[in-house]
Amino acid sequence: MSRYSLLVSLHVASVIVWLGCGTTLAFITIYARRARNGVVVGQLGALARWLTLWILLPASLAAPGFGVLAAHAGHWPDIFFFHVGEGAFLFSFLTVAIRLPLLRRARRGAVAPARLPRYLLALALAELTVLYLAVADMVAKPSGIETSSVRYGGVVLVLGLLAAAAIAVRARKRDPGNGVTGVSDWRIGGFEGAPVAAILGPQQQNPIGTRVDSGSH
Ligand code: HEM
Repeated sequence: MSRYSLLVSLHVASVIVWLGCGTTLAFITIYARRARNGVVVGQLGALARWLTLWILLPASLAAPGFGVLAAHAGHWPDIFFFHVGEGAFLFSFLTVAIRLPLLRRARRGAVAPARLPRYLLALALAELTVLYLAVADMVAKPSGIETSSVRYGGVVLVLGLLAAAAIAVRARKRDPGNGVTGVSDWRIGGFEGAPVAAILGPQQQNPIGTRVDSGSH
């Protein structure tokens, strides 16, 4: 295997982990919203933070790193489609820069628990729209902005970003007030259950009806 093939393979492998992680995060968020499963909702913030910090962020740094090295090794000229890749990387970084402080605020109880999945979903939709378009860009390799593939990509980009904005705006409207839960001691990583209790009834928190031991005998 040539050095170029090795670098492109590592580039594509990092892209798979990067997009796979973002896609998984989006599906888990959808599941948490639909199933209204107490354990999943209670752990969503901690899971999103862990996936972002330890999987998504390193993979999103590795992918353009290997991409640039591959472009040098393959003696690629400075072509338009690389700049789309760079733009996608910067956009993904921006979403991480929004997601991590959001999760920090949620952890302090400063974001209503019912809003968190919607905000995470809006961010994931915006990020994934850009990243999947970057994949199409890398495959189609458009030479300039005036090509038809870039025009179609532009339409998909606008639709994806509008849908993400709509989800975020609806999250604000659905839950009136300033979004503060008043549950200041919420620990996302724990099972304290305060945010879960704030949005779910007892049956939903414990849908199979198992007896929970209080510990006092
Ligand atoms: C700094 C930005 C980037 C650079 C310099 C870069 C560079 C490259 C290079 C040199 C190749 C090999 C092309 C070939 O041999 O045909 C490639 C392929 C690929 N890149 Fe990137 N890339 C960048 C960002 C991205 C991003 C952000 C994504 C997706 C999120 C991505 C996804 C892919 C995919 C899926 C391929 C395989 C395409 C194919 O072989 O047809 N790249 N990239």
